[in-house]
Amino acid sequence: MKKLLNVFIIDNDKTSSALFESYLIESGCQMTLKKYPSLNSAIPYIDNNSVNLFILDVEGHENSSLAEMETIEKSFKNCKFIITSHNLKTDFIIKCLRNSKKDFIQKPIPKNSFIAIVKEISEKMTSDQDFSGHGKVISVFSNKGGLGKTTISVNLAWQLAVNNPSSKIAIVDMNTLGDVTTFLDINPPYDLTFIIDKIYNGISALDIASVYENYNLFVFANSPYHEVQYNISAQNVLLLFNSLRKIFKYIIVDISSEINQSTKQIFQIADLILLITEANLPVLNNTKRCLDFFDKINLNQKTQLLLNRYSYDDDCSIHDVETVLCKNILTGLPNDWKTVMNSVNKGLTIGEYNPETDIYASYVELAQLVMKKLCH
Ligand SMILES: Nc1ncnc2c1ncn2[C@@H]1O[C@H](COP(=O)(O)OP(=O)(O)OP(=O)(O)O)[C@@H](O)[C@H]1O
Ligand SMILES: [Mg+2]
Repeated sequence: MKKLLNVFIIDNDKTSSALFESYLIESGCQMTLKKYPSLNSAIPYIDNNSVNLFILDVEGHENSSLAEMETIEKSFKNCKFIITSHNLKTDFIIKCLRNSKKDFIQKPIPKNSFIAIVKEISEKMTSDQDFSGHGKVISVFSNKGGLGKTTISVNLAWQLAVNNPSSKIAIVDMNTLGDVTTFLDINPPYDLTFIIDKIYNGISALDIASVYENYNLFVFANSPYHEVQYNISAQNVLLLFNSLRKIFKYIIVDISSEINQSTKQIFQIADLILLITEANLPVLNNTKRCLDFFDKINLNQKTQLLLNRYSYDDDCSIHDVETVLCKNILTGLPNDWKTVMNSVNKGLTIGEYNPETDIYASYVELAQLVMKKLCH
């Protein structure tokens, strides 16, 4: 398993720094991302047990950069530099190469070459390392609201916790004023931005998570009483999930139906995307559009379709749905409004409320299928 890649952008030019950030996110490599004005100011944040990649602008301070790079290389094990400037002079390149192999890229940055270099470095530097506790991220999504994302996230997370009693399972609600806390009748004292800030400062997510009842299920969500609108940046999404992966075996993410930078980041890092659909035309049209979009950004392979609220006597069968969407359905969850609503109203999961129901049996099956998909 892989070691964590820490990327440091050292560039005083804000536009160029933002461009690097967006290209790094687009690369899809798993990493934490930090920005500093100078190499020296980044030193306290270098982790000797991780792989550290520096995107370093040297324009106008080539000589001091050489000295700083040397200090870092002497003090830390796994460091790599991509050196950049509008004017990379040959004699400077030769001096840089004297000590170790570095990569150079002239500004303006050619996007595709830059992404290719980052991918190559990430692959090489992290692949031969064993990174224990590499938890799996499962994102539950539909590009139309109200299809059952929260119901599925909560009940799947609980079932995974029941099936894996010696592991820790997390559920993360990425929705502003999301419903996970209502479904589980829990009131976390900390909101997600606070949690991310603490993780950034080295505090373990376990110390600030809220635990659901007596289960090994940990909840990361805003309190239902905190009316804060928050927008978690793609960079913080990386930080949060890389940190959670170290602790939790499965991390289930309930994400909003809106596709934005942080949603895209979750899609990129997810090991499995559960895309919810229903057997009716408007929803199928939406799901089809989403699958086409996923195809364009290479997400289809890790996407599994879930058919929610299906009924055997529906005019539109599971087979019809698969034909329309040109993709197999992982499994179906039956339409059982009464059980679902009663369990929510009592602040219980379906398994706790009524384990005798067909819908609960479907959740047991779903958890098994998900575990099977992720165990390779
Ligand atoms: N299998 C099911 N059978 C019957 N009703 C269901 C089923 N799954 C979910 N529901 C109901 O569908 C409604 C929407 O569910 P839920 O809140 O989980 O959707 P959502 O996708 O999270 O919505 P939002 O986009 O608003 O966050 C709820 O009333 C829930 O009780
Ligand atoms: Mg919801």
